[in-house]
Amino acid sequence: MDRGTKAAVLVAGGAGYIGSHTAKALHERGYTPVVYDNLSSGFREAVRWGPFVHGDIRDARALGDAMTAHGVKAVIHFAGLIEVGRSVVAPDLFWEHNVAGTVSLLAAMRDRGVGRLVFSSSAAVYGQGGRGALETIPEAAPKAPASPYGDTKLACEWMIESQCRAYGLSAVALRYFNAAGADASGLIGEAHEPETHLIPLAIAAALGDGKPLTVFGNDFDTPDGTCLRDYIHVSDLAEAHVLALEADLAAGAFEPANVGTGTGASVLEVVEAVGRAVGHGVPHSVGARRAGDPPSLVADPARARELLGWTASRSSLSQIVADALRWERSPGYGSGVRGPAGRRKSSVGAG
Ligand code: UFG
Repeated sequence: MDRGTKAAVLVAGGAGYIGSHTAKALHERGYTPVVYDNLSSGFREAVRWGPFVHGDIRDARALGDAMTAHGVKAVIHFAGLIEVGRSVVAPDLFWEHNVAGTVSLLAAMRDRGVGRLVFSSSAAVYGQGGRGALETIPEAAPKAPASPYGDTKLACEWMIESQCRAYGLSAVALRYFNAAGADASGLIGEAHEPETHLIPLAIAAALGDGKPLTVFGNDFDTPDGTCLRDYIHVSDLAEAHVLALEADLAAGAFEPANVGTGTGASVLEVVEAVGRAVGHGVPHSVGARRAGDPPSLVADPARARELLGWTASRSSLSQIVADALRWERSPGYGSGVRGPAGRRKSSVGAG
């Protein structure tokens, strides 16, 4: 798609964490983000930069009608379930929402002649990666998801690729590493229920609003024994979606691209960064490993640079933590999750 055409872009799942940041980035670039979301985990208050359509991703007719009503020219697809642990105990839900949802979205796009898709994929497609603990992961690394969640993301990639070939659709699958932080405005940010992610839980522990943090294992084969992850600022991630929409792709092309910084931070480094940001230590203890956690997941981001001209610019750990802290202290939406003063309720804690 050409830049600045003011085209309408359907943002499926646009009321959620990464989707709302992407809707803002689209608006800032001159597009009209049409958010399509069933609000099962997203927030109506996070839809601020374009029209809202309440609907389910499995409803191809409603999706198609939204595309026609708003003159949609492209789709960015975030809608789906994301909790890795839940996918292990309820895999059917993940196949239905993530895979069947993508079936219906692709059908609607075909039906309405919408030919460009950006898909929300995940580093979860790599599973344990099958490589040494300190190596970065290129897109061609073996795919061996360690959870039904990862299975569904990989299945969607395959399905999209085959439909690109068959029907001339063009698509980019962005494989996210660890999305974190919040928009600089303080208007939108991370609000998951339940929250399981390290940075919001470490901040909650530091602010005294959550349980003390449990560090899940310190006996991994990494420099300090705790897991390494590639934390990517959600605003950098949002920008990658806009660039993926604009990438010069032939009809029928399918391109996967990692979205990460190429640098890993350990759990203890994150805990220290949060401590520096709040001005005192984060109450924490070391517990058992969490099932399925790979020791190291760090992106090789070369492909995103080459294909999209994208590099991370806001993803230092200090910037991510500062922006996440500002959001956690704000009175924004998600109060049932984050507590009445914008802080997390003590019932929502680590683990
Ligand atoms: N961690 C703790 N204590 C906590 C929470 C997390 O020590 O209370 C550790 C985890 O063990 C892990 C690191 O902090 O080593 C990051 O954990 P997160 O839960 O924040 O993120 P994950 O790396 O587990 O998950 C991310 C995405 C998922 C995606 C997955 C792919 O959030 O959506 O990467 O592997 F599926």
